[in-house]
Amino acid sequence: MLDGMDPRPVGMFDSGVGGLSVFREFRRLAPRERTVYFADTAYFPYGPRDPGEVRKRAFAIAHRLVEADAKLIVVACNTASAAAIADLRQLFDLPFVGMVPAVKPAAQASRSGRVAILATPGTFDGDLYSSVVEEFGKGAAIDRVVGHDLAELVERGEVDTPAAREAVRSALGRTVANGADVVVLGCTHYEFLAPAITAEFPGVSVLGTVEPVAKRACALLAELDLEAPSDAEGALDLIVSGNREAFLETLPRLGFAPRGAAEAQS
Ligand code: DGL
Repeated sequence: MLDGMDPRPVGMFDSGVGGLSVFREFRRLAPRERTVYFADTAYFPYGPRDPGEVRKRAFAIAHRLVEADAKLIVVACNTASAAAIADLRQLFDLPFVGMVPAVKPAAQASRSGRVAILATPGTFDGDLYSSVVEEFGKGAAIDRVVGHDLAELVERGEVDTPAAREAVRSALGRTVANGADVVVLGCTHYEFLAPAITAEFPGVSVLGTVEPVAKRACALLAELDLEAPSDAEGALDLIVSGNREAFLETLPRLGFAPRGAAEAQS
């Protein structure tokens, strides 16, 4: 296929609103692409679930996105990437982009030599995380911080409330007091808490993973001649496995277009 001739959509999924942080960055970099975003809210949260169960959901969603004619799938969720990315790549005949916490840049950026990785239990338990720490975490002390209830707050759109600030403070207070000067957001939901973390801990650098993932998706589209035509207009189609109304109501609280516009986009 010639460059810029593929009108099919990019598929993207997460347990809920978290992966929209990846979508936001992807749309900024590739505004002509159409995205079909699957929010698996009926199974939210993934973090504490058995990896086998998350893997089953990832397969079912990938099938659904293939049915929607996806040309590439972004697993916009660290927990699902940990549970399923290798198997997805084996089972499906299309390119996948997955995510893993940004351990390497964090170890490089830290001046104190102590970094905190904020993620779900499912992400910490996966081989993907251990292999990245093994390969890139050397030279830094790494504190694993499980973000209890943080994804739930974001799923309700509570990112700038006293409850969100308090949750961030109690999750990270100890590691920061122990000298951590870099916090890695190892869950796409937590991207929306970056301003609250910075406000609570102004001396700490907050590192996300959405930008490299969105860039990787763009690079793959270009490499594989899968880019949208130059006159295409980007769009977002939403598939929500749980309550669609509740999902749409949360979007403006996360900085997305108000309800009407979000629906018009979908
Ligand atoms: N957004 C997901 C991640 O990146 C997980 C949130 C959840 O627990 O469902 O890991």
